[in-house]
Amino acid sequence: MPAIVLDCDPGHDDAFAIMLAAASPLIDLLAITTVAGNQTLPKTTLNARRVATAAGIHDVPIAAGAARPLHGELHIAPDIHGESGLDGPRFGEPTVPLADVGAVELLRQTLLTQPATVVAVGPLTNIAMLLRTHPECAGQIERIVLMGGSTERGNVTPYAEFNIYVDPLAADIVFSSGLPISMVGLNVSHQALAEQPILDRIAAIGTPLAEICLELLGFFGTAYRQVHGFAAPPVHDPITVAALIEPAILTYRRGRVDIELTGEYTRGATVVDFQSSTPNCDVGDILDVPAFWDLLIDAIEICSARALAK
Ligand code: RIB
Ligand code: CA
Repeated sequence: MPAIVLDCDPGHDDAFAIMLAAASPLIDLLAITTVAGNQTLPKTTLNARRVATAAGIHDVPIAAGAARPLHGELHIAPDIHGESGLDGPRFGEPTVPLADVGAVELLRQTLLTQPATVVAVGPLTNIAMLLRTHPECAGQIERIVLMGGSTERGNVTPYAEFNIYVDPLAADIVFSSGLPISMVGLNVSHQALAEQPILDRIAAIGTPLAEICLELLGFFGTAYRQVHGFAAPPVHDPITVAALIEPAILTYRRGRVDIELTGEYTRGATVVDFQSSTPNCDVGDILDVPAFWDLLIDAIEICSARALAK
């Protein structure tokens, strides 16, 4: 059973990654850490606590991390995630507390206690800082599974995906680390569109948490339609967790991923070379979309039952 730490910037799709990781009996979710990205750090951190509260996740520590990228200014995404970073539902006050240590310290403590997989679904600032300030943790990281980048076009600039674009220097540190890496890029996540049949299956769960999920996907869907012209929103982040639960759910191609750091028009691009003699990444390729949705909808049901039992 993979033990994981989940670094995120909730964020609508991050919320589903949290729920899937917490719900699956095949995942041991050791810690949740937050990073600035979709919104500012105070908002992504509050949102992680809100999701944990709504989903009945009371046994996983949550710690706040970096409020800005390693270099340059923070770029947020209110056009996609709203002013709160989790627009759509009305959340009550979170009851899940914030850890009294920061994200890097929580990651350090957790990893030195036991080896784990790092699942990163936001800008990679926290992970880069961990590798730089606590190199002793690298040997405890079994794999880094990240949502970010793309083998094709970007979603912030023509060639840069948001998580990499926000902190390309951090991404370069991670992809240069020599650690085993799996990359779930937009070329994968754009296969996972929450279309009406999926919304109907979530509605049929009929719980308060399912209603929150529908409201999240409603806002997310409107934003993706208005900004990107998508008929339905791609639910990027939980694919990383699903690929750990059911490895056969995603195929990979071995390649070398380098991060463009200086291009005037291409900064933040993941340059993917499938012919390289020095590959450093398992690059996600084809998703078993029905199996992915089955896992996610089961997770919403499991979290719903836990939330109602609290
Ligand atoms: O480009 C999509 C990624 O950026 C997702 O992780 C989304 O939550 C944002 O963080
Ligand atoms: Ca995210």
